[in-house]
Amino acid sequence: MSKTLEKKWLKEAASKVPAGFSGTTAWQSPSNIALVKYWGKHGNQLPKNPSISFTLSASKSETSIHYQRNDSGRLQLKFFFEGKENPAFAEKIQRFLSQIIPYFPFLNQLSLEISSNNTFPHSSGIASSASAMSALVMGVLAIENKLKNTHETDLIKASYFSRLGSGSASRSVFPVAAVWGKTTFLTESSDEFAIPVVQQLHPVFQDFYDSILIIDSGTKAVSSRAGHALMDNNPFAPTRYKQAHKNIQDLYSAMQAGDLATFIRITEAEALQLHALMMTSDPGYILMQPNSLAAIKAIRNFREDTKMPLCFTLDAGPNIHLLYPASVREEVLAFIENELQPLCANGFWIDDIVGQGASAI
Ligand code: PMV
Repeated sequence: MSKTLEKKWLKEAASKVPAGFSGTTAWQSPSNIALVKYWGKHGNQLPKNPSISFTLSASKSETSIHYQRNDSGRLQLKFFFEGKENPAFAEKIQRFLSQIIPYFPFLNQLSLEISSNNTFPHSSGIASSASAMSALVMGVLAIENKLKNTHETDLIKASYFSRLGSGSASRSVFPVAAVWGKTTFLTESSDEFAIPVVQQLHPVFQDFYDSILIIDSGTKAVSSRAGHALMDNNPFAPTRYKQAHKNIQDLYSAMQAGDLATFIRITEAEALQLHALMMTSDPGYILMQPNSLAAIKAIRNFREDTKMPLCFTLDAGPNIHLLYPASVREEVLAFIENELQPLCANGFWIDDIVGQGASAI
């Protein structure tokens, strides 16, 4: 399927930039939190197993691109992060854009001034590559649309190119939830882009909360890139990939049916399995902190005592994502204040909820 898509995109690529062409386009795109995790990759940013995530709303990147035709025959780029010119990020983005230039040849005739900022604090430990890469790609597609005089952004195309920037970014452009990676039960699913699944989900998941407890805001000792690479020699990897296929199928069914008990069981198992894979890599490493464990224990005790349907998940770091439906919001807010906030670095947590994906600002 994607070979056909790639051919189509190559064929329809805008290559001519008219004299005097200039403008500004601004996009916001959120971060997302995986429920079934993508951990292990191959080829050009292809996943070893399918994943499913909630799209967030408060944790997002806002990126504006000022573009102007230049006659040098190559892309020129300046990048400002949170108001300050950032040559290191500029180099990274230049490398990414060079990679996708065959599909967007007009970039070679443009000077870009890109300004980006995140709504979540830089030092919160929240991964920004998913939101930043997808916001950037939305901007590039908007410039292409302007050249072609169209307005409709193809979100599958946005997802495909976001994936090349950062795997998990492929899932950020869609509302509420997305599946990335080939599954047996979703015929349209693909390793090369994510697909939207919001229409198929039970209403309870359409306004689910994610309260992100910032346990430690420092940078990770082992990057995601290095973590993915360590899966290549992890002795548990084949079992993990098999398990992920089963988990995503069961979780997806539970999310269609509104089965919160199964949702909780699989979501927590996935979080712990992700960290177990880190511990069983060679060399093994631990990204959880004592307060991550204290929060997990408190969440499980609270669930046991109150029978409320809340659960945790973890990204590749120590922070806890507390997931729950809108129906228990009030009680959970009190629980956070009384028991969880004291475990957070400087008492900091982010009040997030599933969101609508990327959009123009
Ligand atoms: O998109 P990357 O390469 O930063 O990897 C993300 C990996 C996890 O966040 C741990 C899991 C996921 O599916 O998002």
